[in-house]
Amino acid sequence: MQIQAAHGNIFEQKTGLLVLPLKKGETLSTQWKELDALFEQQLSKLLQEQEFEGKQGEALVIPSLGKGKAWKLCVIGIGDAKKFSLESYRVIGAHITKRAKEAKVKQVLIPFEAFPSLEGVSLRVAAERFAEGLLLADYSFHAYHKKAQERVKKQAIDRVECFVGSAAKARQIEAGLEEACAIVEGTCLARDLVNTPSADMTPAHMVDVARELTASPRITLKLLSKAQMEKLGMHGALAVARGSDHEPVGVHLIYRPAKKAKKKIAIVGKAVTFDSGGLSLKPAGGMMTMKIDMGGAAAVLGLFKVLPFLQPKAEVHGIFLAVENMPSGRSYRPGDVVRAMNGKTIEVLNTDAEGRITLADALCYAVKQKPDAIVDLATLTGACVSALGEDMAGLLSNDSKLSQKIQAAAKEAGEPLWELPLYEPYKEHIKSKIADIKNISAHGAGTITAALFLQYFVGDSSWAHLDIAGPAYSERETQPDLPQGASGYGVRTLTRYLQAL
Ligand code: BES
Ligand code: MN
Ligand code: ZN
Repeated sequence: MQIQAAHGNIFEQKTGLLVLPLKKGETLSTQWKELDALFEQQLSKLLQEQEFEGKQGEALVIPSLGKGKAWKLCVIGIGDAKKFSLESYRVIGAHITKRAKEAKVKQVLIPFEAFPSLEGVSLRVAAERFAEGLLLADYSFHAYHKKAQERVKKQAIDRVECFVGSAAKARQIEAGLEEACAIVEGTCLARDLVNTPSADMTPAHMVDVARELTASPRITLKLLSKAQMEKLGMHGALAVARGSDHEPVGVHLIYRPAKKAKKKIAIVGKAVTFDSGGLSLKPAGGMMTMKIDMGGAAAVLGLFKVLPFLQPKAEVHGIFLAVENMPSGRSYRPGDVVRAMNGKTIEVLNTDAEGRITLADALCYAVKQKPDAIVDLATLTGACVSALGEDMAGLLSNDSKLSQKIQAAAKEAGEPLWELPLYEPYKEHIKSKIADIKNISAHGAGTITAALFLQYFVGDSSWAHLDIAGPAYSERETQPDLPQGASGYGVRTLTRYLQAL
């Protein structure tokens, strides 16, 4: 889908689908008089008959049967004008894509200025959000589905044009449209990676993806082989990987801005390419979606796709240790003690609490880069899904300023999250009799104790942890811009966070 800015008279353009936004309570006869007249008021009549109210996302697609230059018309509700927000642009954009696909059209025209304008929000930003919605809803994953692949190709919308009143305005929204394309490309890369089955999304394959990102001159890649991981003392990640036939590998991407950076930020992702639970084997049902367990690293890779385009001022380090958690004669066992890169020892009481063990080493490695802040993303705990549900990530941080920045970024990105406390007294629950800490607690608050575990490996770095077990993936479409499957959660929040630095 190509999105373009245009100006001129929208009714004089030939197109597949002309979109007619209507606010709640508004009628076609007032807002789109010219068109209604062309149809001899039959359109208003039809809307009345259908009891069209203009609720957000409500839509009516009508063939124009030769009248006017558009093949079909789509009246779309944009809801209560008073409640219209920046977020509404994305939601309505997504609805339009869905309707246009159903209508099987190739071209769509949108009178962009028919949307309410928001105080303090530029045309550029509004267009950016709107295009995010259009593009995010256009995603589908059919890499393993030959027929559907062909169908998707056939039904693809070629071009969406956003019309405004002048060439100057068109230039303004053009910049927003381009930004949206970059952000969505990164998000959809993350979606693809998470949707890909573990048989193909192996640690080695994650390296291939990282390598492709170095096509940008701003990005360099350092790989850590298993031997190098051993040398660095990453015995946690190595222990988790031991049961698998796939070798573990460390990925360290660096984005360097054109001008010398004032800030250095490390983004760390959980990269368990499949989580069977290991010897503490998951029940069959619990394993079914565990290809998503590299969702944190997928967000890192998606982010690095965006960075060269948006060129934030900070130097960014993207770090993950890719491993697979499998049972075998070589697996690490419940009761084993492993030593992480910073020398701290971990008693493994459940091999299914593997994410925190791999992250321990990844965080130690991140600390060594001396960043100003570390943000990690991980599909870490089922407990976070119990606490906050499928839409929201959990945020835990040892620095309230950083936490506020992440919250502001997530709000801008439209990715819901909620802060949970790093409640110190619960550290008691992960004290071990024979090692420095143990990898599970028996006293509830699983998301908090997992984060407290991670805190042992960040030293005094400013650090924020995002538990994305809930929003990384959904079995069903939860919102028009969130199709079934992987969401790409995190890419947009990280992008906004880095842009604001
Ligand atoms: N990858 C899982 C967490 C998870 C669960 C992610 C559901 C997405 C959806 C993690 O490695 C795990 O198994 N966590 C255990 C921890 C427990 C053994 C302390 C869990 O949450 O049950
Ligand atoms: Mn697990
Ligand atoms: Zn896991």
